[in-house]
Amino acid sequence: VVFKKSSKASYLVAKEIADLIRSKNSKGEKCVLGLATGSSPIRVYEELIKMHKEEGLSFKNVITFNLDEYLPMNPSSIHSYHYFMHENLFNHIDIPEAQIHIPDGTISQEEVNDYCAAYEEKIAACGGLDFQLLGIGRTGHIGFNEPGSHYNSATRSITLDQLTREDAASSFLGIENVPKKAITMGVGTVTNAKRIVLLGWGHKKAEIIKQTIEGEETAQIPATYLQDHPNTTFVLDTEAASML
Ligand code: GLP
Repeated sequence: VVFKKSSKASYLVAKEIADLIRSKNSKGEKCVLGLATGSSPIRVYEELIKMHKEEGLSFKNVITFNLDEYLPMNPSSIHSYHYFMHENLFNHIDIPEAQIHIPDGTISQEEVNDYCAAYEEKIAACGGLDFQLLGIGRTGHIGFNEPGSHYNSATRSITLDQLTREDAASSFLGIENVPKKAITMGVGTVTNAKRIVLLGWGHKKAEIIKQTIEGEETAQIPATYLQDHPNTTFVLDTEAASML
C-alpha cells in the first residue's frame, strides 16, 4: 500500500494495532505484539501514545517482544533499543514492565545460545505473535537478520553487516562505536506471526524495497521471505515505492 505521506500511513497502522488490542481486550485475551526500533516506527508509536492518552486505549493486556538488541549493549545506554523503546513508547503507556521483552545485550557469549532459545520459548508460550511491526535495513534485513539468514532461522546472535554498521554510525558518533554483533529474532520467528506490517519511508529504501517485493526469494535479502507469508502488508510512502 502506497501513501503520499508517511504520517497518514503511520496513523492507519497504529489504528490497526489499536483495533487488534481492543478486540483482544473485549474477548479477555492477551495481545502479543512484535515491535521494531529505528526511525520508521516512531510515528506509529506516537499515534499509539495519543490513542492511549486521548481515547483510553489500554495496554494492560498487551505483551511485547522486541525484534533485536545490539550485543554488547547496556540497557541504560542511550544507544540501546531498551532505551529507545522506553523513550518512544513504554514510558508513555500503561503496559506492565513484566510484559515487555527486549533481548538482553549484556548476556555473555557463553550464555547467549540458551538465552535466545528461552526468548523463543517465551514467544511460543504466549501463543505466538499476533502482529509483527517491521522496518527494513538497506541490506534487506528484518530485525537484524542480515544477508545469509535462513528462512527458518530462530532467535540468535548475529554479526552485523558493514552497511548496517555504517547506517548506524552517525547515531553512535562514529562506526568504531557501533557494536559488531546483535541478538535478533529469526526470519522464522518473524514469519510465524499471524500478521506482519513492514514500514518503508524515503528514497533511501526504494532500491531494497524493489528487490524485496519484485526479486527472487533469497537468503541474500532476508526480507524477500515475507513474499511467502499469507498476511503481510508493505506500507510505503511514494519515495520508498518509487522504483516499483
Ligand atoms: C535497524 C533495526 C531494524 C530496522 C532498521 C531500519 O537495523 N535493527 O529493525 O528496521 O534499522 O531502520 P530505520 O527504520 O531507521 O530505517
